[in-house]
Amino acid sequence: MNSVATTTSLRSTDFDFVSSLIRSQSAIVLNRDKEYLVESRLMPVARAHGFESVTHLICHLRARPQKHITDKVVDAMTVNETSFFRDQSPFDALRLHLIPELLKTKTADKTLSIWSNACSSGQEIYSIAMLLLENFPQLKTWKLRLLATDLSDQMLARARRGCFNSTEVSRGLPKELLTKYFKQQGDVWQISDILRGMVEFRKVNLIEPWLPSLQKMDIIFLRNVLIYFDTETKAQVLTKVRGSLSDNGFLFLGNAETILNLKAPFRREIISNSTVYRAAPIVKD
Ligand SMILES: C[S@@+](CC[C@H](N)C(=O)[O-])C[C@H]1O[C@@H](n2cnc3c(N)ncnc32)[C@H](O)[C@@H]1O
Repeated sequence: MNSVATTTSLRSTDFDFVSSLIRSQSAIVLNRDKEYLVESRLMPVARAHGFESVTHLICHLRARPQKHITDKVVDAMTVNETSFFRDQSPFDALRLHLIPELLKTKTADKTLSIWSNACSSGQEIYSIAMLLLENFPQLKTWKLRLLATDLSDQMLARARRGCFNSTEVSRGLPKELLTKYFKQQGDVWQISDILRGMVEFRKVNLIEPWLPSLQKMDIIFLRNVLIYFDTETKAQVLTKVRGSLSDNGFLFLGNAETILNLKAPFRREIISNSTVYRAAPIVKD
């Protein structure tokens, strides 16, 4: 029997090639149980670049790695699950405690900066923007910076467009906010220009050097991305995140994520049923 891979089964050496490519470019660890995903996710990339099959695409990348194709391969393998007001409790902590606390401690310079890292299609940062508009009218006289970043060009393009389908707007978004901040255009809901104008979207890969212009942020959301990394990368990313957070700042991780055993410079607190990580002093070796 011919053992050459067909369009429906990948050779294990091809899977190994893809998984090491993804790991080196994004730190995402692809285990063997994700083999089926490689085939289905990479087929559209193969077709878009004129390859007959995923195997042909991989063969080409082995012989002649090209950044524009590699980027598409990595992008296709990212998991982009997200929703408006995901998990709710971080947004309660923000509304009831963290923003009121920062409004008090920052009255002198009147600046507030929030970063949604690994923002996917933008629901997290738009939820934050709606929360601020709805609850903190005094911020109108403040300098507000809402930054949202991701590695995926496709997700950033989607997030910038601010168009969501009916399933997406039915997940986590209260009806009154849907009516107030979105316009229905056929099958999609377009978020208002006010909200889009509040957010700055940029490409940031967590394992590459960050934007030199990145000022210290007051609050960083880094949710549901560390789960894809190995322990060493998690620790490195958390150290970098601390470096980008002000000394009075706060970090949110996803529900399945923790700093336990990572020696990260944060203090864990429970606020409004949410785990919040308060910036702790950085100890230099
Ligand atoms: C599951 S989504 C999380 C979205 C949002 N933070 C949330 O919790 O709802 C994970 C996101 O991490 C992004 N991502 C994966 N690896 C990354 C990396 N190395 N640098 C930046 N973003 C990355 C993916 O593109 C994806 O959009």
